Amino acid sequence: MKSTAAVLWEVGKDWSIEEIEVGDPQRHEVLVELRAAGLCHSDEHIVTGDTLVELPVIGGHEGSGVVLAVGDGVERVAPGDHVAFSFIPSCGRCRWCVSGHSNLCDLGAHLLGGGSIADGTYRTTVGGQPVARFCQVGAFSRHTCVHEASVVKVDADLPMGVVALVSCGVVTGWGSAVNTAEVAAGETVVVIGCGGIGSNAIQGAKAAGARHVIAVDPVELKLEAARRFGATHTAGSIDEARGLVRELTHGDMADAAILTTGVAEGHLISPAVGLIGKTGILVVTAIGPMLETHVELSLAELTLFQKQIRGSIFGGANPKVAIPQLLALYRDGLVDLDSLITKTYGLEEINQGYQDMRDGRNIRGVVVFD
Ligand SMILES: NC(=O)c1ccc[n+]([C@@H]2O[C@H](COP(=O)([O-])OP(=O)(O)OC[C@H]3O[C@@H](n4cnc5c(N)ncnc54)[C@H](O)[C@@H]3O)[C@@H](O)[C@H]2O)c1
Ligand SMILES: [Zn+2]
Ligand SMILES: [Zn+2]
Repeated sequence: MKSTAAVLWEVGKDWSIEEIEVGDPQRHEVLVELRAAGLCHSDEHIVTGDTLVELPVIGGHEGSGVVLAVGDGVERVAPGDHVAFSFIPSCGRCRWCVSGHSNLCDLGAHLLGGGSIADGTYRTTVGGQPVARFCQVGAFSRHTCVHEASVVKVDADLPMGVVALVSCGVVTGWGSAVNTAEVAAGETVVVIGCGGIGSNAIQGAKAAGARHVIAVDPVELKLEAARRFGATHTAGSIDEARGLVRELTHGDMADAAILTTGVAEGHLISPAVGLIGKTGILVVTAIGPMLETHVELSLAELTLFQKQIRGSIFGGANPKVAIPQLLALYRDGLVDLDSLITKTYGLEEINQGYQDMRDGRNIRGVVVFD
């Protein structure tokens, strides 16, 4: 079928709106009509070349839609079902899936390439040329044909903008605090970078019972939102936060810091580690340039104070557990997902949406498909 998508042809270029051809769902595949897609910073990383993917590529990995058709052997969803995409496909069978780490499923090996998970062939073409889909999803598209491992069924009465955000940003931020930082009642947590991911790390830390949640961001609009999401204190920079954390903890420093800046930069690690105290955990959720290996860090500080640095992908969460769970918390009013959506855009306005993200205007911009 013919459809429309935002395609990246070259690093450093704008998203280009193109007519595409989407193939029929093959065995274990699902054809989805998109309803909403979040403008996550991870797609910006493929534009800047921080994350190296096969080009051309249809962007988008944070999205929601309705199943139009399924191929043979599909058991997880049926036509008419509402789904959230899972930007990490989970097979349910590999070592990582069966040990409760579906966010590290071996199917993740397909994320940056173009050939489909099912058989390595392409399901989408532009002008007759095969085109990859970011994270095997390609949510910046009116239609996409994905493996059933990339979708999670959700309740049909939930707002699809919110469902889209839960497919990446919400679980990633929330889980970075709850799972990876293992925030416990009474702790002090610093969230560095309060965009789409950081806002949810704040909510996760708060729900886990943190006493102090210090939000750090240079943009005042983000700090205002952070206070609404549950931050108890705010600071414009890591330097500014240091004195505040010292004062609040009587010199013990924070139990956890969560790095959710737009880009994970090596020079941020030493100051971020300086915010945590003995046995403290720094969670690195932000994504850095793939080829960059330089990190500033005092190894003595790690050893002598038993500090830890932990990576976190999809908030250390299992998509099939966490997506319905966060949506249930939303339904019960225990997490605020509506306020994450600052502005909505048509697919044709996607470059404006990303400019607004760069300019610090949005917590999350969302593409809404009519
Ligand atoms: N690990 C994962 O599974 C995963 C999933 C999704 C996104 N991400 C990554 O998380 C990061 C955040 O994504 P996002 O969509 O929230 O981005 P965003 O652009 O919405 O938010 C980033 C925020 O960081 C702030 N910031 C920039 N530099 C800062 C600094 N030095 N100190 C404090 N704040 C600073 C910005 O003002 C902005 O508010 C990105 O790197 C993204 O790729 C990781
Ligand atoms: Zn994302
Ligand atoms: Zn698996």
